[in-house]
Amino acid sequence: DLPARVRIHEVGARDGLQNEKTAVPTEVKAEFIRRLADAGLTTIEATSFVHPKWVPQLADAEQLFPLVKDIPGVALPVLVPNRRGLDRALALGAERVAVFASASESFARANLNRSLEESLGGYEPVVRHAKESGLQVRGYVSMCFGDPWEGAVPLHQVAAVCAALKDMGCDELSLGDTIGVATPGHVLELLNLLNEEGVPTNQIGVHFHDTYGQALANTYAALEHGVTTIDASAGGLGGCPYAKSATGNLATEDLVWMLHGLGIETGVDLGRLTATSVWMAEQLGRPSPSRTVRALSHK
Ligand code: HMG
Ligand code: MG
Repeated sequence: DLPARVRIHEVGARDGLQNEKTAVPTEVKAEFIRRLADAGLTTIEATSFVHPKWVPQLADAEQLFPLVKDIPGVALPVLVPNRRGLDRALALGAERVAVFASASESFARANLNRSLEESLGGYEPVVRHAKESGLQVRGYVSMCFGDPWEGAVPLHQVAAVCAALKDMGCDELSLGDTIGVATPGHVLELLNLLNEEGVPTNQIGVHFHDTYGQALANTYAALEHGVTTIDASAGGLGGCPYAKSATGNLATEDLVWMLHGLGIETGVDLGRLTATSVWMAEQLGRPSPSRTVRALSHK
């Protein structure tokens, strides 16, 4: 049975804009987030409190967060890579944070400048402090289905990273197909293994990339398994800097089109969301790669 309702975890303002070459002005980001909220999205990842040299696109986190933090009815998770990031987020009154680990050794080193084991060890006190401070914590796991340097990533290794994040106190996990190589059978294998290893489906979100055109098929497999938290990026913003294809995150519009077609509630107004992505594409100076945005805006 498919779920009756799905919660979309919107990542366009963070995962999308972190990959843009153009520096988006802070006020445009704030307007983007307000419009996403207006379109009915209730979980909108706002920014990252990472090192500004690593991700200059999000270096305005201190300026942006206060502009959006009081939008009624909207949760605004932010990424934190370490205690320094968590302290910056706490100082601004963030209520939800996300740590981001990797299922592969190579990406841990590329993204966090640490080994996989060091990165998990480093997150332990960060997650503990976040929980003690009353925050909700999400644990991202990148490269769950393949890695650009290592190729296949063994499922038991992915499950071990997921279990470690859950055991340290993460409320929710997000399984990232960072280079978009997953196919539906692979998704089901991982979800089944996670359940066997004690991670319940209601603590699992999925984060698919459409690099190989598989994101919706993978989403459908996850829905059939019972997953109700799905990450997506408005207008399909954001690629993966390590994948050669221009396509990146699953577009929220493509996801909503499928979910509504299946009779699954999202609370999202597709017309308003599409208008937002068309507006954002104008700000960025290039069209959205989302098929649904194109179809609906060329009527
Ligand atoms: P490092 O250079 O190893 O850090 O970076 P360090 O601990 O050695 O510290 C070096 C300097 O950075 C120090 O300053 C620290 O204070 C400062 P100095 O003493 O030299 O003046 N520093 C900070 N400054 C501001 N905010 C901080 C912070 N931490 C240290 N939080 C670090 C290690 C983890 C910080 C760095 O590698 C980093 O910021 N990485 C972030 C990378 C990133 O954001 N990647 C994208 C997100 S993950 C992703 O996109 C995947 C996902 O979307 C899922 C998917 O799509 O599949 C989630
Ligand atoms: Mg992504």
